[in-house]
Amino acid sequence: MTDLTPHGTEPAKLGYSPVADIPHALRVSDTDPAAAKRAERQIASMFLLSMILVVVFIVAFCTIDKDTNVYIPVFGEVGFLTIVLGLTSGLSILLIGTGAIQWAKKLMPDVEVVQMRHEMTSPQDATDEAAANYERGKDESGFARYTIIRRTLIGAMALFPIPVIFLLRDLWSSPESGTLTPDEILSHTIWKKGERIVVDATYLPVRPQDLPIGGLVSAVPASLKEVQEAEGNLNARGKSAIILVRMDPKDIVAQQGDGWDYQGIVAYSKICTHVGCPIALYEQRTHHLLCPCHQSTFDLANAGAVVFGPAARNMPQLPIGVDSEGYLIAMDDFNQPIGPSFWERG
Ligand code: FES
Repeated sequence: MTDLTPHGTEPAKLGYSPVADIPHALRVSDTDPAAAKRAERQIASMFLLSMILVVVFIVAFCTIDKDTNVYIPVFGEVGFLTIVLGLTSGLSILLIGTGAIQWAKKLMPDVEVVQMRHEMTSPQDATDEAAANYERGKDESGFARYTIIRRTLIGAMALFPIPVIFLLRDLWSSPESGTLTPDEILSHTIWKKGERIVVDATYLPVRPQDLPIGGLVSAVPASLKEVQEAEGNLNARGKSAIILVRMDPKDIVAQQGDGWDYQGIVAYSKICTHVGCPIALYEQRTHHLLCPCHQSTFDLANAGAVVFGPAARNMPQLPIGVDSEGYLIAMDDFNQPIGPSFWERG
């Protein structure tokens, strides 16, 4: 419906349906005070329940052990605390929203308000001026006159996006093309049997006695420097960075392979399995490794299992031992791709 009054005027009608002249139907709560009272109590109960859930949230946060897991079909082992916190906070906000909707539907004024909109087209003099400006610009730029320039410009603009399509090629690969899939790229690092583990930055080899219980060292393969210089980029570093952590062997609950530790020293990838942030925040009492990006937490005493946060996979473990000179070495490469999940990951 269009109002032909000049721009800026805002005529409004109350209690009138613009679609059809349908008589306005009153709600039960408009006519029955008892029903209105009932609605008021229902809505207040929702807000009250929401408050109770917040209290339950706080109590659960302070009392439930965050290492307690429950088994849920389809999802598998899930942290009990995570479930309780999610349910209480989710239901609490849901009840506030539902209560607000019920309040608006049952008790707030039920009057239709129509605001007429003004004419959308521009005044004729403004349209004429815009058309004149366009014509003048066309003449002054010579766009119509210089035919070859115009055509070559159109050709250049049409071809310009095509390189983007070629860049998309990196998102897939095939054996025939000879390019590596993400799976192939991330499944292998430069770690191999016998590769010495050295301290990141100093490249000093590490002996088991250098690492006290509770200690953590950021480490890389001894050959990293050489590989980096040859490749001219940091890809090998990004994939092979690890952390070494020493704990009491009695504290180790599980590992990703039998005997992958050395006297309580375990080595795990430093790259978060969520979206790949480097991690080195370690809590020695719980043996938890915390990612600063989105708070994924991994239990290094339990095969790098995810105990909290959005990461969906264990932190990959590197099997380690010592060489004849007593320095820590890798016993193999990782047995799974490092870093975030991707579509080809099994
Ligand atoms: S990158 Fe580690 S939790 Fe997101």
